[in-house]
Amino acid sequence: MSIRRPAAIPSREITDEEVYLRRRHFLQAAAGAAVGMALTGCRAEEVSAGPAAPGPAALSGVVKGPAAFQTDEPSTPFEDVSTYNNFYEFGTDKEDPARRAGSLRTRPWSVAIEGEVARPGVVAIEDLLRPHALEERIYRLRCVEAWSMVIPWVGVPLGEVLKRFEPTSKARYVAFETLVDPELMPGQRRRILDWPYREALRIDEATHPLALLAVGMYGKVLPNQNGAPLRLVVPWKYGFKSIKSIVKVRLQEAMPETSWSAENPREYGFYANVNPEVSHPRWSQARERRIGDWKKRPTLYLNGYADQTAHLYKGMDPKKLY
Ligand code: MTE
Repeated sequence: MSIRRPAAIPSREITDEEVYLRRRHFLQAAAGAAVGMALTGCRAEEVSAGPAAPGPAALSGVVKGPAAFQTDEPSTPFEDVSTYNNFYEFGTDKEDPARRAGSLRTRPWSVAIEGEVARPGVVAIEDLLRPHALEERIYRLRCVEAWSMVIPWVGVPLGEVLKRFEPTSKARYVAFETLVDPELMPGQRRRILDWPYREALRIDEATHPLALLAVGMYGKVLPNQNGAPLRLVVPWKYGFKSIKSIVKVRLQEAMPETSWSAENPREYGFYANVNPEVSHPRWSQARERRIGDWKKRPTLYLNGYADQTAHLYKGMDPKKLY
């Protein structure tokens, strides 16, 4: 998505197969070390006795989410999901987050809930999650760069979390921010974006049952490079809406500014709804490459979640919701 290096995305997407496979092999080796370090972030009560081998700790008490939030499509291997990442706070190459995100400390961690809520506050992540059952939901993730994955997330419905803070009638939007700490997030030493990374949803999008606050994937604690300890997942939108390592949630009346649309409004809009008919100014969105596949596949409108989410945009022109 980098604006300063526009050639970066297309060239990565056309990497020749041999280079791609060699790089995967290298990345898998690098990831072992990084996810091992992510273990320091585990909540004691969430962790069941894990194997001695390095890797993220298993989460206990995870229940299968409702059928509407699953898919029969094969999940992308954990190794790929945890080594091919976008997390610019750790660098702009896909392999940077897995190599560098070990520096992020994910405990203690708290989240500020502010703005148009009757019960604002700064809440420890343990307290934020405690009342909710951890659910597994298998979602497609479609990046604006035209690659996709299928990921079994573990998390809690965002709408149920927000309800506890009692949004007021003026809460029309929900804005999110990622941590800013250049010591822990070395990519922030360069002004790649105007930090902190910021994202936002309309309140009806945020309270849609599909919107998830994820704390894990594959039944395990989220690796740092995937947005530990808490990230958003909104599967009908391009992946850049799914903000990682959240420290602030603000409910407000005005439409919030978001990082990518502030950086380049022509290329990245507020809605970022997946739509094969709306091309990115620099590439088509009609097809996508599922990580692990060589052949491209057609992109699905709203990433295949139209039955569940199209009503949110009734009366709006889908072509303007990029
Ligand atoms: N959140 C933060 N804070 N920083 C980022 O650079 N990248 C976004 C999103 N969330 C990003 C972020 C983009 S472009 C995508 S596609 C997804 O994270 C990628 O998530 P993944 O690395 O877990 O696949």
